[in-house]
Amino acid sequence: MGWLAWERFRCNTDCKNDPENCISERLFRSMADLLVNEGYASLGYEYINVDDCWLEKERNAFGQLVPDRQRFPRGMKSLSDYVHSKGLKFGIYQDFGNYTCAGYPGILGYLETDANTFADWSVDFVKLDGCYSHPLEMDSGYPEFGYYLNLTGRPMLYACSWPVYQIYAGMQPNFSSIVTHCNMWRNFDDIQDSWASVESIMDYYGNNQDGIVPNAGPGHWNDPDMLIIGNFGLSYEQSKTQMAIWAILAAPLLMSVDLRTIRPEYKAILQNKKIIGVDQDPLGIQGRRIYKHKGIEIWSRPITPLYQNYFSYAVAFVNRRTDGTPSDVAVTLKELGYFSYAVAFVNRRTDGTPSDVAVTLKELGLASPTGYRVEDLYEDVDYGVLSPQTKIK
Ligand code: GLA
Repeated sequence: MGWLAWERFRCNTDCKNDPENCISERLFRSMADLLVNEGYASLGYEYINVDDCWLEKERNAFGQLVPDRQRFPRGMKSLSDYVHSKGLKFGIYQDFGNYTCAGYPGILGYLETDANTFADWSVDFVKLDGCYSHPLEMDSGYPEFGYYLNLTGRPMLYACSWPVYQIYAGMQPNFSSIVTHCNMWRNFDDIQDSWASVESIMDYYGNNQDGIVPNAGPGHWNDPDMLIIGNFGLSYEQSKTQMAIWAILAAPLLMSVDLRTIRPEYKAILQNKKIIGVDQDPLGIQGRRIYKHKGIEIWSRPITPLYQNYFSYAVAFVNRRTDGTPSDVAVTLKELGYFSYAVAFVNRRTDGTPSDVAVTLKELGLASPTGYRVEDLYEDVDYGVLSPQTKIK
């Protein structure tokens, strides 16, 4: 969880005419201040991440990367120290190819040097993009850069764009390798500031969920891209939808918004503690779209039992067979009724009036005879314990 510059601030390098919004140490320092002072950090948002356009166009005489001298006059170590002094972590952007997507020097040919530079700057997070490189070379190149990152001895979260560029090239990404070498990875298009863009991402993840969901787990996540809540493109309800669906998807929550001017109702969505709790659930199981019909969707995600203080379970496995050989019995925790569920009801209809949707818990796959305590995380309503036969509307 944290903040990432790209979607909101792009490649604005015009510090002369737009000093407040250009990609510069000033922007990242002020976002670090606000992450702490406005209460985001205490809810778990901890990374301040630079994206593209932070570099000089040329490496120095030792082949090292140099941050733009005008816009980052004190250099990256100083910015990183500042971010750390706030109790936060510092992220940076680079690209596996010859150039970054915006045309600054990429890491190709300098993998070891750049990994060492990032460690010297006390970087905690590296986003490695894939412009100007060959998708076939990524299967060895991304692991190789990860190897050099690890060799530095400094833990750095490794965010890869490896699969998305391979998918664009018509390849089938090798997800078992991606899961092994990356902490998170992009599968699909860049998010843009529009509801259509959020919908296209939801559709991609829903339509391809059988291949995508099993790859997520603690330490390795699918990344549907930044939260755009609080910008120009989403209504209030659409913003709630993005937050809810990203939580169901177990997505990294990287806000890309101007924290100086965000309106309070959007800030409240980003700071919804219970929905953040769903997103960050320690089981790390990504959820799925379980229903889609005529503009209505239902998404669901198993999470840690919320009321385990009230309901822990002692389970006995008994073998009463007499055929004299051990019997293998394999059940999922789910089959034993061991999860809570986060459920999102999404209305994508445009006919302008609320749609009534009524389902029983059982129809949502919630069949435990002891029932379920049901709570609305946006309205903050507690419905008490409901049986699987109860219809919820
Ligand atoms: C690519 C990435 C974006 C962003 C830009 C920067 O498009 O997918 O997230 O980093 O490059 O140029």
